[in-house]
Amino acid sequence: MANIISITSLKGGVGKTTTAINLAASFAVLEKKTLIIDCDPQGNVSSGLGINKDAISKDITSVFTGEINIQEAVYNTCLDYLKCIPAKFNLYNIEKFIGKNRRNPGTILTDKIRALHTIYDYIIIDTPCAVNFLTTSALCASGWALIPVTYYLYTIDILEETLANIKKIKDSFNPSLNVAGLLLTMYDKRDYISEGFSDDIFADFNKLILKTVINYDLKLHEALGSNKPVALYDIMAKSAEAHLKLADEIEKIINKSKKKNTYKVIKPWERGNAKIDRLPAK
Ligand SMILES: Nc1ncnc2c1ncn2[C@@H]1O[C@H](COP(=O)(O)OP(=O)(O)O)[C@@H](O)[C@H]1O
Ligand SMILES: [Mg+2]
Repeated sequence: MANIISITSLKGGVGKTTTAINLAASFAVLEKKTLIIDCDPQGNVSSGLGINKDAISKDITSVFTGEINIQEAVYNTCLDYLKCIPAKFNLYNIEKFIGKNRRNPGTILTDKIRALHTIYDYIIIDTPCAVNFLTTSALCASGWALIPVTYYLYTIDILEETLANIKKIKDSFNPSLNVAGLLLTMYDKRDYISEGFSDDIFADFNKLILKTVINYDLKLHEALGSNKPVALYDIMAKSAEAHLKLADEIEKIINKSKKKNTYKVIKPWERGNAKIDRLPAK
């Protein structure tokens, strides 16, 4: 059963796409069968993995519209264990195409992804910074949400909004959805001191903050520009090691939760109260 992780934040520029690419690549380097789904019309995951968007016709849009089977949209990448479903700019129009009056449009992707559950160990979904059809679709299909955060001003308000959106989706559509953690990205001790932030800026969220921190590293930026994960751009880069650590930490969190759930007794009054179709328990 694939572990599905959405990388989500309502704030742009916090490192969602960078995390999606490099976490997925790290799982692949560790020989986990991994699929990355680009659910952002900007298509930066696809370019970041060297997929020429002008040369392809099959993408996540054609999966949503039902023109093709999800497996037809899977492309190879620079890593044997990493596959990608790309996105192009036309994904912007998908919400209009699907129509707002369709019942539970957010669960379309959940249904399509079922066919991939036995093929992959990990499915990573990159999302746009908006509460819209694409983010809802990704969170409905996921078991986990991973939230990159930076120390910049206004982070806390948007973090609260992001967590509230995840809770709304969990309560309304996908009870299996959980927060894997908050990932501090682009961390630079000098900014942190110069901006006058204190350690308790995230005090309310302490339990959610992951041990792994992704420091500011120009190599990550350069790797994105060279259309490669940092592990292929420069395996000696500190950020390559940090993302491998991140993959290890996420795997442990997921395994721990699976062990806990193995012995969970479903009480009679908890059965059959799901409001809509959902994935089998992860
Ligand atoms: N740890 C990091 N160190 C240096 N640059 C980074 C780091 N993480 C992301 N970046 C750069 O910051 C920019 C925004 O990152 P991106 O992943 O596209 O954010 P988002 O998807 O949240 O909008 C990109 O140019 C990326 O290369
Ligand atoms: Mg992005």
